[in-house]
Amino acid sequence: MANTSHNARVLSGMRPTGALHLGNYHGALKNWVDLQYQHECFFFIADWHALTTGYEDTSQIEEHTWQMVIDWLGAGLNPSAATLFIQSKVPEHAELHLLLSMITPLGWLERVPTFKDQQEQLKEKDLATYGFLGYPLLQSADILIYRPRYVPVGEDQVAHVEITREVARRFNHIYGREKDFEEKAEKALKRLGGKTAELYRELRRAYQTSGDASALEKAATLLTGNAHLTIADQERLQGYLEGTGRMILPEPDVLLTATPKVPGLDGRKMSKSYGNTIGLREDTDSVAKKLKGMKTDPSRMRRTDVGNPDVCPVFDLHKIYSSEETRTWAAAGCRSAGIGCIECKKPLIDAVVVEIETIRTRAREYEENRDAVREIIQAGCEKAREAARDTMDEVRSAMGLGYRG
Ligand code: TRP
Ligand code: SF4
Repeated sequence: MANTSHNARVLSGMRPTGALHLGNYHGALKNWVDLQYQHECFFFIADWHALTTGYEDTSQIEEHTWQMVIDWLGAGLNPSAATLFIQSKVPEHAELHLLLSMITPLGWLERVPTFKDQQEQLKEKDLATYGFLGYPLLQSADILIYRPRYVPVGEDQVAHVEITREVARRFNHIYGREKDFEEKAEKALKRLGGKTAELYRELRRAYQTSGDASALEKAATLLTGNAHLTIADQERLQGYLEGTGRMILPEPDVLLTATPKVPGLDGRKMSKSYGNTIGLREDTDSVAKKLKGMKTDPSRMRRTDVGNPDVCPVFDLHKIYSSEETRTWAAAGCRSAGIGCIECKKPLIDAVVVEIETIRTRAREYEENRDAVREIIQAGCEKAREAARDTMDEVRSAMGLGYRG
């Protein structure tokens, strides 16, 4: 909508859960590593979010945060390509959260599916807190403050991006209605220059009369990053285009991460809480040992029994790690009892070990030099803060809080 995908900004975050495992890697991190070379990316550790469910024992937050940063770097997030930072070091997120809380109906938050689900799942914790209810709104602030085009997340976070879009729409609706909006938009159009302005008008007409989405997209590309326009004018013209007020907080889109099924050692989904994980920096012997013991098709008791790769968790790993050729070999050998499970696992173990060794080697440098890690994060926080401050200036002035104290 507001951007061509090439220069479009991307933002995402992760709660600091400590050292990451292969499930986290294939479910999110690997995708971020690819995205950083296609877009302007902001990735952050959502340490405040960890408090929404774990407010009582906070002793692990710091270590979990640093371990996660090291995993990110080990996995190939490149601080010269992506901006890496920590949520609590950019306090503007909290200010936006507060301001958004003023216009967010309670019902929107109560209806977020994770609200009731998690309260039930985590019964041992008292989650009848204000902070827990506000979790999705804090996430909205995290997102909107960077005005990203895309938010890469898995299925479980889609509802949170959805509420973010609703909150943005409501904000723009309430605070984007400045008086003289049309006049200001027309004035901004003049700054675009004759030819471009004319093209904008044509595309605007096409969109508003026939809902032509490609016209909308084309017109939007005339605005973003246009050196003749201030950000405020870009927002006006974007709103003018769509027939709304000023778009102070553009609505982001979900970039749904295609998440392969990553089974844990017991065949259930790989998850820290099941204790069935393989760590991203685990040593080779331990990885090999774990995989050798990994659950297989339970009906294949003896070497001479045939097996069924479709119900075997090991085969799900082959789908992630193996070439087509190896997969065909494994499936055929399994179905005919031509190979044993140990044999089947062998190429898999090699592939996982290579992947983890690459990550571990890259991470080692940072493990041994925490100062370097701190510097990377400090630089990232500064960059993030600059972007966040720009948005907050706009937000404050749109809300009538632009005055100096
Ligand atoms: N809620 C997300 C999770 O639990 C983490 C998160 C916090 C996030 N803020 C975000 C993700 C903003 C994307 C964008 O995984
Ligand atoms: Fe699973 Fe491979 Fe054993 Fe078949 S041969 S049951 S796919 S581990």
